[in-house]
Amino acid sequence: MKRHLLSAGDLTRDDAELILSTAAELRDLADRPIKKLPALRGRTVVNLFFEDSTRTRISFEAAAKRLSADVINFAAKGSSVSKGESLKDTALTLEAMGADAVVVRHGASGAPHRLAHSGWVRSSVVNAGDGTHEHPTQALLDAFTMWRHLGQSRPGGLEGRRVAIVGDVLHSRVARSNALLLQTLGAEVTLVAPPTLLPVGVETWPVETSYDIDRVLPGVDAVMMLRVQRERMNGGFFPTPREYSRRYGLDARRMAALQDHTIVMHPGPMVRGMEITADVADSERSVIVEQVTNGVAVRMAVLYLLLGGNESGA
Ligand code: NCD
Repeated sequence: MKRHLLSAGDLTRDDAELILSTAAELRDLADRPIKKLPALRGRTVVNLFFEDSTRTRISFEAAAKRLSADVINFAAKGSSVSKGESLKDTALTLEAMGADAVVVRHGASGAPHRLAHSGWVRSSVVNAGDGTHEHPTQALLDAFTMWRHLGQSRPGGLEGRRVAIVGDVLHSRVARSNALLLQTLGAEVTLVAPPTLLPVGVETWPVETSYDIDRVLPGVDAVMMLRVQRERMNGGFFPTPREYSRRYGLDARRMAALQDHTIVMHPGPMVRGMEITADVADSERSVIVEQVTNGVAVRMAVLYLLLGGNESGA
């Protein structure tokens, strides 16, 4: 594995499978009364969040603590310094504090790459979401969740499994990272969105696209709903929220068209009633809460492999 985790596309199939199998071993820890391992004792993990986050930040914090690392949470939001400068200043501060890993979420696409390749820090950099670009650990926890339900008992794992990713693909770093990682793992992805919410250049992604959710749903093994990211929109991408839900929302009627084994996923935060109805989100097919649990195990695996378990490749 490389020293940093910046893009899901940087992972080879061997890398991805190593992370998933390590996560599977670490996940058992979640069910034990004492959830701690000494693997990263004496190491420091800094969570550097320039953008809002609930589950990703808490998940990285829990992951690092369960491996006995020291954790520093740095909420950089609200800084008035321009982005390039504040990132550099912050990076120098972290370096001075002796961070071994920096987990960074930033509103600007490419900020984690800048941090990793600028020479400002010597630590491993983990991208926890950069702008509309990538969110590789989300893709890993999604793949891990799919693997547990759809891949574990088959020889090829997720090979040939079909996944629909539905909604605001344009603003979604989750969609891009999932498309890249699922291709690496041999799964087939269909992006479903209105034409206004598909990114320019999507034809270069390793995916199929469709505007028609009802045609896609019966053929898939997993359906991943995306939040409409209104905070990143400055124009009309669809007529009304009601119209959006009618055309692209997952409700009980649409859920009834899924195959029996098909799982329903969402990276969170959900807007119930918009892209997914409450009854679907809370249904037996929904693995949304399990995704959160799996996120801790996957992030433990990533931190462990970047910092502890991979000395020779560092
Ligand atoms: C996503 C994100 O921040 O990219 N959430 C997450 O990390 N679990 C998706 C979103 O904000 O809708």
